[in-house]
Amino acid sequence: MLTAITRAVSPALSRCELTFLERKPIDHAKAAGQHQDYEELLRRLGARVMSLPAEPDLPDSMFVEDPAIVLDELAVILPLGTDTRRREAASIERALAKFRPIERVALPGMIEGGDVLRIGRRVFVGYSRRTNKEGVRQLSAILSRHAYEVIPVAVTGCLHLKSAVTFLGRNTLLANRNWFGTALFADYDWIDVELDEPHAGNALAIGDTVIFPASFPKTRERIEARGFRVAPLDISELQKAESGLTCSSLIFES
Ligand code: GLY
Repeated sequence: MLTAITRAVSPALSRCELTFLERKPIDHAKAAGQHQDYEELLRRLGARVMSLPAEPDLPDSMFVEDPAIVLDELAVILPLGTDTRRREAASIERALAKFRPIERVALPGMIEGGDVLRIGRRVFVGYSRRTNKEGVRQLSAILSRHAYEVIPVAVTGCLHLKSAVTFLGRNTLLANRNWFGTALFADYDWIDVELDEPHAGNALAIGDTVIFPASFPKTRERIEARGFRVAPLDISELQKAESGLTCSSLIFES
């Protein structure tokens, strides 16, 4: 069964980390409502949603994608690339231990799940401000034992690799190709984001449906023109916290 781990929005979200965005006031009730809509959409698309309780002292803790990656064979717990977020991993590990054997990357390795784009047995990992070479070296050593190939990718101009590129299915990537090294993705077809929607590269594909931010209508048209069914979702308040769509859940078969 498709399972999605999520976490309720922290009341401290307005103190979140920001790397490429200017801080704007965040309306907590609106952010929480948008996150509930996200969870409801995941349920409508067939996922069992396990929503963890909010962490009042951890502003970014709703971004459950970052402290771990989940593959069919195992879950890997990751030391996040900012001190402020590192304590998020403990409760994610407890939740995942019910479903997968656990392995860990250790400091001084740093890596965030937002930098990890898995396509089949290939695991592309972005070198962003949050992920370092030691983190990628350790992840590669762990995953090579399970027959995955880890492929490092340069990231510039955005928070994570998946801020710039996500996989929609049917061999197709949705991307802002200005923000990462594209040479290693030669085998894939592209949908490019519209120039004036640079943050539109992050979509969440569930089965045949692409969950996509309502704030990027021109790129949405491009995705639909390629035959994908799009479910638009308003995450405007969460976007102020540098949120995409993949970062708010860990999704896996269980
Ligand atoms: N606000 C998301 C992050 O910086 O990790």
